[in-house]
This record gives sequence, structure tokens and C-alpha cells, in this order.
Amino acid sequence: MLPLWSAPVFSFRCCFELLQKNKKVQVSRMRRKQGRNKGTGMKFAALFFSVLLTAALSGCGRKSLTGLESEEAAEEEGRIAVAFSEVGAESDWRVANSESMRATFTEENGYEFYFEDAKGKQENQIAALRNYILQGVDYIVLDPVVETGWDEVLQEAKDAEIPVIVVDRMVDVEDETLYTAWVGSDFKKEGDTAVEWLEQYLEEQGRASEKISILHVMGTLDASAQLGRTAGLEDGVAEHDNWEIVDQVLGEFTQAKAYEVVSEVLERTQDIDVIYCENDDSAFGAIQALEEAGITYGTDGDVILISFDSTEAGLTACMEGKINLNVECNPMHGPRVEKIILQLEAGETPEKEYYVEETCFTPEMLTEELIASRGY
Ligand code: AHR
Repeated sequence: MLPLWSAPVFSFRCCFELLQKNKKVQVSRMRRKQGRNKGTGMKFAALFFSVLLTAALSGCGRKSLTGLESEEAAEEEGRIAVAFSEVGAESDWRVANSESMRATFTEENGYEFYFEDAKGKQENQIAALRNYILQGVDYIVLDPVVETGWDEVLQEAKDAEIPVIVVDRMVDVEDETLYTAWVGSDFKKEGDTAVEWLEQYLEEQGRASEKISILHVMGTLDASAQLGRTAGLEDGVAEHDNWEIVDQVLGEFTQAKAYEVVSEVLERTQDIDVIYCENDDSAFGAIQALEEAGITYGTDGDVILISFDSTEAGLTACMEGKINLNVECNPMHGPRVEKIILQLEAGETPEKEYYVEETCFTPEMLTEELIASRGY
């Protein structure tokens, strides 16, 4: 056991070792990038104090040292360090998205992959990004939980000359040079697709001029997926005098929350023709609440169910007639992000914004083979 007086000395030694290792990684990265990370005295001082603080807070823990050691090994082997900040694990879609990233950025493919699950909190994402900047990774990939509030940390990444690739949801920043490229879905188009289908479906059912009451189960507020899908529905309602949104509730893209909020609504009113769920997990929450309330839904029921994502579970429920329409939102972004990184590595300029091609599904379009072939 070490005497108490030795703690500061030990702590200082750890910090010094940590700093040396970090410096080595930074310097070798600087060489690989041919001067991309031009550190200034200010930056070095900031790095020193950040490392000192990190070491002091972590008690100079093994985890940080191990991280740096593996980063150093990656550097020596010429691997590209890609650091991903993921929203969380709130839905099947999200799990598939994380898996797509992990499966793409493997050591065998030449990458050192860092992953942080933000648990749905923007402050966790900002902290993760600062940590990635401090480590001097080659690329930061950000799937932002919400659109706003990124200017400062993205400026820090830009100052450190680390390209940031935004994926899935968008960032709303003053200066668009703060990120290098974005790839994801056109969420407004997804909402428009759902509205166009509903209009046609009601027409086919001879209900085009009937009063239509819509319950809207929204995703996480200020997330691009929520903003776009909500705008699509609200525009659709504005264009149809006989459509009405009876309630807008927060399902937060999870089954548990959607079940809770839809159950509450159903206690107040059961005069609902359509439930517009902003993802498959919330559709499952709505289904649970409808079943408990003894209300029928889907192709043979009283309530028309609309969902987004087209996950394996969501499409299976659609094939079974439980979900009337499932609008695709494709989560397989790993290869798309890799394409951007390879373009940057080759000195090319990737497209600033790339929208993924998507479709939608109704029960008669689906088979088990088709669902199994989609990979999520
Ligand atoms: O940003 C994509 C959305 O986020 C997906 O629709 C949803 O399932 C996820 O949680």
C-alpha cells in the first residue's frame, strides 16, 4: 500500500505519462495527415490542462491509458480512427444503425472505431465530441439527437481540423462549413408519402369527405425525424378541411412511452380514425394500448395505423395487416459514411448533402422473403 503523501506524486507521474502518450499519438497523426493538425502553443496548453484534468478526475485510470495504447497501435498500423457519437438505443432502427457502423469500421477494414451511446442526451454527445477532439481522431461521425446547439463544439472540431460527418438526423448551424458532409433520410418527404397514401386510401374506402380524426404520436422533439414527419402531417391536415389532429403526444420514438401516452388519450376519447406513429417502436406502443382498450386496428380494424422505419418487426406487423402503411427510413448508414471517408482520404470532395432513396410498404407488397432480405 502506498503512503498517502505519494498520491500527488503518483498522480503527476500518471498525468505526465498520459500526456506523453497523447502527444505521441497527436504527433504521428499530424505526420499522417501532412500537417492537418497544426497545433499552436495555446492548443498544446489547453491539451495539457485537459489531459491533467481528465487524469485527475479518472484517478489516472487504466481505461484512458488502454485507449491511448490501442490508438497508438492503430496509428502504427496505419488504421483510420473513426469516432461515432450515436443518439442512443431507443429503437430497433437505432440498434440497426449502430450495428451498421460497427460492421463497417472494423480493424480488418483498416479502422480504429470509437463508439459512444449518448443515451438520448445532447450534453453526452457534446462531451463525447470534445473527448474525440482531445484524442485527435481522424474523423468524427455525429448522429445528432436534436438539430440545434452544435455550433460551438463543431467549431472546436473545425479548429482541430477534424472533419465531422453528420449522419441520419441533421444539424442546424449558422456556418455550414462546420461539418464536412451529411447523409440521411428526407424526413419531410417521408411524411408527405404517408399523407399521399392516406388521401388515396380514404378515397378508395369511400371516406374522402368523411371527418377524419388523427392521433399524432411524435418522436423526440427537435430531432430531424420528428420535424420532417410532423411537417408532412401538418401540411396534409392543412390541405384537407375534413382532417383534424385530435391530439399530439410525445412518444419519444420508444414503445414504452408511446404505450403510456396513447393509453392516456384513449381514456379521454376513442373517437380516432388514424394513429400516425413517427416510428415502428411507437407503433408497437400504440398497438399495445389499442389492444388493452379493446379497439381494433389495421386493415380489418377501426383505426388506420401509419408507421415509419420499416424494420423487420415493423414490416412483419404490416404484412400481418396490423400496420396499414410503413414508410421506409433506412438505417444502414455505415457503408455510406465510409464512402464519404474514402473520398476524403483520396483528396476528393464528397457531396455536401446526400439523401438516401426510400420507399413505403403496404401489406400486399410484403413477403417473409422480402422482409428477411432487407437486413434490419
Ligand atoms: O432518426 C431516425 C429515427 O430515430 C428513426 O425513425 C427512429 O426509429 C429513431 O429512433
